[in-house]
Parts: sequence; structure tokens; C-alpha cells
Amino acid sequence: PVPPMHVGFDDRSGGMSPSGPVLVRRMSDLRGLYADQAAWTAALESDDVVYEVASSPVPELEGELPQSITTILPGRVGGEFHMTKGHMHTRPRGEIYLGLSGLGGLLLFDGERPQWIEMRPGSIGYIPPHWAHRSVNVGDEPYRFLAVYPGDSGHDYGWVAEHGMGHRVFHGSGGPELRPFTFPAG
Ligand code: PA5
Ligand code: NI
Repeated sequence: PVPPMHVGFDDRSGGMSPSGPVLVRRMSDLRGLYADQAAWTAALESDDVVYEVASSPVPELEGELPQSITTILPGRVGGEFHMTKGHMHTRPRGEIYLGLSGLGGLLLFDGERPQWIEMRPGSIGYIPPHWAHRSVNVGDEPYRFLAVYPGDSGHDYGWVAEHGMGHRVFHGSGGPELRPFTFPAG
């Protein structure tokens, strides 16, 4: 357990203070995520950071409410917007997201129904238990959001690898285009 605390966050970096672990995911960490494998392979050349997750020191323990701030940098792979890996919680636990900056979306999937929630600064996205969730940057600047979740939620990435997310989100002339999910080809 940790004492009551104030957690500050830096608008410019998305960092938290005091800070817990910071996770950095580069293109090379995202094998099998994008539909267009050739485009992903080409992107390995520069191996840019796709997203970062900064955490507060609140531990992932039952009863606690850990927080994290995710920053997804703008970009596309084969027309598909930068996104997080996405996961299902290992226990039936909900989660709350708050949009902080940039334009994003929250893609949810329960194994049958895909759902899309637009996220702007000030938007609150609610993720009910049993819904896998993935975040997508659909804008030209970093998309940043705060997440608050029960400490015993757990992260099941295998569920998404097996079931997909129902949709993929591509750049379209009139804004983000949701297309039926396909597993990576090639
Ligand atoms: O708790 C959450 O759902 C978020 O903090 C995510 O973990 C974060 O956005 C990174 O996504 P993922 O864990 O799917 O890589
Ligand atoms: Ni989650």
C-alpha cells in the first residue's frame, strides 16, 4: 500500500511525479499488430516509438486504483493509425479513461460487438468488465489519456491476439474509417 498522495503530470512529456514504471513501445515491439506486415517491416528501419505508458507509484493490488497516462504518437502503418496492443482484463473489472490531449478513439470488443468511442480532451470513456480495449490516435498530434483501473484487473494480451478487436481503424478522406478486423497477412 501507498499513502494518500498528490500526483502531478507534465503536459509536455506525459510523465507523472512521483512516478512508477514507464513503458515504451516501439514499432519492433508490435509484431503482428498491424494488418499490413510489409508496411510494418518497412517501419522497422527507423523503429520509432509508437506509444509510452507512464504510471503513478500506486501498486497493482486488489483494492488499489492505479493510474497511468498513455501517449500515442501520431502516425500510420499501411494506412492504419498508430494504436496500443489492446487487452482484456483477466478479472471482470471496468476501467475509466479521460482524454487529455489530441484526438483519439477507444475501440472496444466483447468477442461479438465492436464499439467505437471518440476521445477528445475532457472525454470520459467507460470500459465495462468483459470488454477488450485498444486506443487509437486518429489525429496529427500526440493523443494522450489518463486511465484508472482496479489494481487486480490484470492484462490479457493473448485474448486480443486470438479474437482480434472487431474493427481496424484506417485513415480515410472524411476522417477515421472503421473496417472489419483482419488478422495480419503476409
Ligand atoms: O490500463 C489500460 O487499459 C491502459 O493503461 C493501457 O494499458 C495502455 O493504454 C497501453 O495499452 P496496452 O496495455 O494495451 O498496450
Ligand atoms: Ni485496461
